[in-house]
Amino acid sequence: MIEPIKKIVFPVAGLGTRFLPATKAIPKEMLPVLDKPLIQYAVEEALEAGIDQIMLVTGRNKQVMEDHFDHAFELEKILDEKGKSEALAISKSMLLPEGSIQYVRQMQPKGLGHAIWCARHFVNGSPFAVALPDDLILGKPGTLKQMVEAYEKVGGNMVATMDVAREKTSSYGVITPGKRSGKLIEIKGLVEKPAPETAPSTEAVVGRYILQSEVMEHLSAKQIGAGGEIQLTDAMAKLIGSQPFHALNFDGERFDCGSKVGWLMANISMAAQDPSTKSRIKELTQNW
Ligand code: G1P
Repeated sequence: MIEPIKKIVFPVAGLGTRFLPATKAIPKEMLPVLDKPLIQYAVEEALEAGIDQIMLVTGRNKQVMEDHFDHAFELEKILDEKGKSEALAISKSMLLPEGSIQYVRQMQPKGLGHAIWCARHFVNGSPFAVALPDDLILGKPGTLKQMVEAYEKVGGNMVATMDVAREKTSSYGVITPGKRSGKLIEIKGLVEKPAPETAPSTEAVVGRYILQSEVMEHLSAKQIGAGGEIQLTDAMAKLIGSQPFHALNFDGERFDCGSKVGWLMANISMAAQDPSTKSRIKELTQNW
């Protein structure tokens, strides 16, 4: 039996060093693309996929994300008094049923694998999703929904992947591909940030995962991997062979919003589609 995916872990403790000074006091996950912070896109993508038990693995200076998903009584009262019903509805749009968002602190920056391990009591034996909010993926349906639909057929573990230029493999987890069936690729191996010369393929993992809870056992070994950190990729690699493991070559456009250029591209791309901004963006970009 394939157990449905109801839980998701968002690792949001990262320091955002590629975006300083903007991220000195503001979490990188609160950077807006057009008018919404990155974390909100990620949470909406999860809800669209039917996932409604949410865990944010936070760190120092990240408390503002809790406020984002809570009532803002003063703001709501003023908007109500002024009759600004549209703004009020937007402000309340991220209020999820009480108790559906939890927070845990990753007390030391020991890597993505360590962040996920910090959510082990929340996961508590269930299969779960992971999404990295600075990987913004625009697509309809969202990538998590595409993955959940594929998972309902094949079960096991799944990562979202895309083909990247060979010189870029050292920025990603990279798969050793097996049999392909449509957009699904069987995974034979996984390696974190391989050099272009040694990368087993150019099929790179982007920040969306569906994992079986056994990954926590491997993470608890706290093995140090690439970059001196505890890597999720290394723990996932240990599941290959004992559980199904697939890559989904998702439909959608991915922006690395942890980098200036990726975040700018995401903004331009969204603004070029948004009714309130698109004509101005067209005018502006015509002369470039
Ligand atoms: C993380 C993962 C990596 C993955 C990437 C996608 O790396 O460790 O396997 O390919 O996210 O964005 P990071 O970008 O945090 O260094």
